[in-house]
Amino acid sequence: MKDIEQAAKLILNSAYVLCLTGAGISVESGIRPFRGPGGLWTEFGEPPMDGYQRLLQNPKKHWEEIARRGSRDSEFVRALGEAKPNPAHLALAELEQLGILKYLITQNIDNLHLADGSYHVAEIHGNSQKLRCVRCGNRYAREAISLEILPPQCPRCRGLIKTDTVMFGEPIPKDMLRLCQRETDKADCMIVVGTSAFVYPAAGFPLEVKQKGGILIEINPYATEISPLCDILLKGKAGEILPQLVVSIKAIR
Ligand code: OAD
Repeated sequence: MKDIEQAAKLILNSAYVLCLTGAGISVESGIRPFRGPGGLWTEFGEPPMDGYQRLLQNPKKHWEEIARRGSRDSEFVRALGEAKPNPAHLALAELEQLGILKYLITQNIDNLHLADGSYHVAEIHGNSQKLRCVRCGNRYAREAISLEILPPQCPRCRGLIKTDTVMFGEPIPKDMLRLCQRETDKADCMIVVGTSAFVYPAAGFPLEVKQKGGILIEINPYATEISPLCDILLKGKAGEILPQLVVSIKAIR
């Protein structure tokens, strides 16, 4: 409790508070993380790292495989479809509405921040509900693109359409990277929630905030790559800690 109050004070004393979220924030919404206890890859191992290259080599085959999988969706895809925002997503939306949280960078593709009223959200690994053109980078709602002829083409530039979700081996889209960098440059405090801080470039943002003298507050039940650098470690589940943090911020503001 003392740590939560101290975190609340540091947040209120900061000029530009940014948040970085990872898979852990959605665990309480029923979506498994990738690493750590209960992680998909802890159980099944990491998938091949050349998914994007294989898509580019044979886009038709890639899309036909997606079409074939259809109703035999993986456990992960099913969980994405069923997940609802949890109190952690709600707490961050409230912090934004209070004018305290300025921007949120999420590595999650599950749309749960946007579904729960956060507006300033950069989805660095994309959004599973959207499609994106490989050539011009334009994003589309899934329903806006016909899948009758595979692979689908961009209505604007005729480029190849893929899911917006960033694949293994795929560079982060330039517009998204620029947005994340712009926000990180402004931040003097970062709340890091539910990420192993293992995957770059996202894992580099807290390091940058720290390097320029900013504050790092981590919310996670377990230690991560960046725990040693953090000013405050709030050990526990995001869905329990974040609502308490908001209560504390409102009490002393
Ligand atoms: P990870 O699965 O690597 O890490 C999840 C983190 O959440 C771990 O540090 C857990 O300790 C923590 N955690 C678990 N339950 C939690 C809870 N209830 N509350 C708070 N934290 C909890 O997930 P990410 O760091 O997001 O990329 O992984 C980064 C990227 O790796 C993903 O975006 C994905 C993958 O490659 C793509 O798919 C492109």
